Amino acid sequence: MGLADWLEPKAAALESRGLTRRLRPRAAGEDLIDLAGNDYLGLATDPRVVEATVAAVRTWGAGSTASRLVTGTTALHAELEQALASYVGQEAGLVFSSGYLANLGVVTALGGPGTLLVSDEHVHASIVDATRLSRSRVEVVPHNDVDAVTKALAERNEPHALVLTESVFSVLGDAAPLTELAAVALAQDAVLLVDEAHGIGVTGNGHGSVAAAGLAGAEHVIVTMTLSKALGSQGGAVLGPAVLREHLVNRARSFIFDTGLAPAACAAALAALDVLRQEPDRPEAIHTTAARLAAAAGVKAAAGAVVSIPMAGPREAVAAAERCLAQGVAVGTFRPPSVPDGISRLRLTARAGLSPAQLDHACAVIEGVVAG
Ligand SMILES: Cc1ncc(COP(=O)(O)O)c(C=O)c1O
Repeated sequence: MGLADWLEPKAAALESRGLTRRLRPRAAGEDLIDLAGNDYLGLATDPRVVEATVAAVRTWGAGSTASRLVTGTTALHAELEQALASYVGQEAGLVFSSGYLANLGVVTALGGPGTLLVSDEHVHASIVDATRLSRSRVEVVPHNDVDAVTKALAERNEPHALVLTESVFSVLGDAAPLTELAAVALAQDAVLLVDEAHGIGVTGNGHGSVAAAGLAGAEHVIVTMTLSKALGSQGGAVLGPAVLREHLVNRARSFIFDTGLAPAACAAALAALDVLRQEPDRPEAIHTTAARLAAAAGVKAAAGAVVSIPMAGPREAVAAAERCLAQGVAVGTFRPPSVPDGISRLRLTARAGLSPAQLDHACAVIEGVVAG
């Protein structure tokens, strides 16, 4: 059987269910109101971030040249790891070349037959994939269900357990009950891993939800994050006790067998952190914008930047996004398999830095599209 005979029926099956995904290459300088990207604070194009990135390319070149344990660790990587840990309030940090690989690395390095993984049903695909690779027993629990987490931990036979959640959920846009989860983890001799991909730069005045909950630096709490959303760069990190960092350097396969993050991406993230330190009020505009967008869409307020609007089905979601685009507003869609509950959605990301006129226009467009 040729590749076409193999793949064309699969493509046709996706198409018939309205689930085909298509790339839309952006043109430079496109004149759209962007409610689809994850550059929540506009830092990807901030002149201070861009200048730092260019300077790093001139100093270090285009790539990191090797894996982190060979020649792929530069002074910028070390500086960034300390800066991230201190910003989020953790003892130590380790930078990976993406947030996806950070989750993969830490979960597989802590997983195995002696570790139970208790995973919220709405965690990001990178955590789902990590649990699959980990060779651990996995209990998937209903969304934000602290009692189910407690039961799974209490009934386990494994000596170790890791509870997996997100601080601000990437699809639903709501928050995890971090205080309760951390208390349960502590009581049950487990570790809580919080993916702050949508928290850092957004919640807790930018420092994230773990810090806002007073859990920064707790020995049984691990933070993972991406540099590619509010920080406007690329890459990911695991933040936690120094003993964890040491373990990951030796055991996290997605760290060891992967070329180090480009030094320029480190410089961009460092410059973005500087901006956040100098302008601690910057994340506030995300929340006011998110509240306006949620009101326009008739959905409840979001915990962070992601405003999630349930739609009748995948075709309706795509058609609605196309109508927004035709009116100058780029929005995202969530369709299976990106939605654990199977409900397709429009995904709006609230950006700081929209002008009042842009926000008014975006709200009017969303209101019209959602009303049908
Ligand atoms: C919750 C969550 N975790 C992890 C990731 C992966 O991060 P990265 O894009 O840096 O691989 C993302 C987004 O892509 C995310 O939304």
